[in-house]
Amino acid sequence: MADDTDQKSSNQMWGGRFASGPSAIMEEINASIGFDKKLYAQDIRGSMAHATMLASKGIISPDDKDKIIEGLNTILSEIEAGTFEFSRKLEDIHMNIEARLATLIGTAAGRLHTARSRNDQVALDFRLWVKEELQKTEGMLTALIAAFLDRAEENADTVMPGFTHLQTAQPVTFGHHCMAYVEMFGRDRARVRHAIEHLDESPIGAAALAGTGYPIDRHMTAKALGFREPTRNSIDTVSDRDFALEFLSIASICATHLSRLAEEIVIWSTPQFGFIRLSDAFSTGSSIMPQKKNPDAAELVRAKTGRINGSLVALLTVMKGLPLAYSKDMQEDKEQVFDAAESLELAIAAMTGMIRDLEVRKDRMRAAAGSGYSTATDLADWLVREAGLPFRDAHHVTGNAVALAEKKGCDLADLSLEELQVIHPDITKGVFDVLSVEASVASRTSFGGTAPSEVKKQIAWWRGRN
Ligand code: ARG
Repeated sequence: MADDTDQKSSNQMWGGRFASGPSAIMEEINASIGFDKKLYAQDIRGSMAHATMLASKGIISPDDKDKIIEGLNTILSEIEAGTFEFSRKLEDIHMNIEARLATLIGTAAGRLHTARSRNDQVALDFRLWVKEELQKTEGMLTALIAAFLDRAEENADTVMPGFTHLQTAQPVTFGHHCMAYVEMFGRDRARVRHAIEHLDESPIGAAALAGTGYPIDRHMTAKALGFREPTRNSIDTVSDRDFALEFLSIASICATHLSRLAEEIVIWSTPQFGFIRLSDAFSTGSSIMPQKKNPDAAELVRAKTGRINGSLVALLTVMKGLPLAYSKDMQEDKEQVFDAAESLELAIAAMTGMIRDLEVRKDRMRAAAGSGYSTATDLADWLVREAGLPFRDAHHVTGNAVALAEKKGCDLADLSLEELQVIHPDITKGVFDVLSVEASVASRTSFGGTAPSEVKKQIAWWRGRN
């Protein structure tokens, strides 16, 4: 970044009443160009729409407007070609661009800032950026959901143990488990869509905070910039960062989902569980232990959640004590959002790749599903249904059966009919139909349940919405 002393500085642009330039430390704490240069395209787009509106309302001449647009186009190509010299003395992206415009087109450049302030300008640029990021996130979540739908379809009747407290609970299907994540990421995507709708209002024209006396047309700029309508209250407009907070809270919830999934992947890929094998593309070896295959991508997805949650807390804390309207504190909004956006994109992309590539070890899942007395509830339900026991009694009888199996070191299905009849005389050989894990999952046909027939309905519902 160039910051030679002979360069134009922002002090020259607002410094009419100041006797000396900013100290080096002031310059350093004040400048945001190091990160807000990311907003260059949005800044230029916003300025073009603003200049066009000013000319159409007769506030600036058509000739000045043409010069401004031409100059802004030149600046856009310079930035994209990497030849633009960003200067810290010019504080931020808005003044870097405006100063360059003045060099390129002379006095007409000074007319661009009529009827606006950096306060509505930065609100506009940042809103446009967050809107685009949300649109990108929406597409990435759709791809992740699609990956899960494919795995769910292939595994609609792959039996695995379902867990509560990470203890074997009841048999479920891997397809059903995959569809649980589809629900979670589907809710994330719905939140993204809602946030896009929420922020779809144009801030430009709120000016510093009070609006302006120039006869501007905010509906015109809103339309030109692809917003539904202009914001309604100029004070709120320049002090509002809800769109950034919403982005961060959505990102935090989504990252939390990704982290829970990452944790499951880490557990499932251990030799002890062995439910899945990660592809080489998403794991690494150990430099000392040749047998190891580490789930690094999943671990890093889990860790990124810490950063993303941290960004949310940071911005909430920045905003919580601010009086209306704009305060410079709000400049600290961008790095949090940029960093969280980068982390979230990476985490979703890595997870989509892992889900697409992972090998499901059906034999291991099936074996684990049958152990740990996972069909005990099925036995209790059979006693209620076939032997007419109240559920509480059936629960007790089943507990005795589990204790016996435990003593013998076998599964429930391995107990003989005679042994079961000692526990309760009304038990018949029909009970063995429900003691298998396949029979157990097939019986759970309640809406949203784990029966393969139900899982297929869930998949079809989502296919129609993805
Ligand atoms: N760089 C500033 C920010 O990011 C732009 C707005 C500055 N406005 C002001 N009144 N100093 O918030």
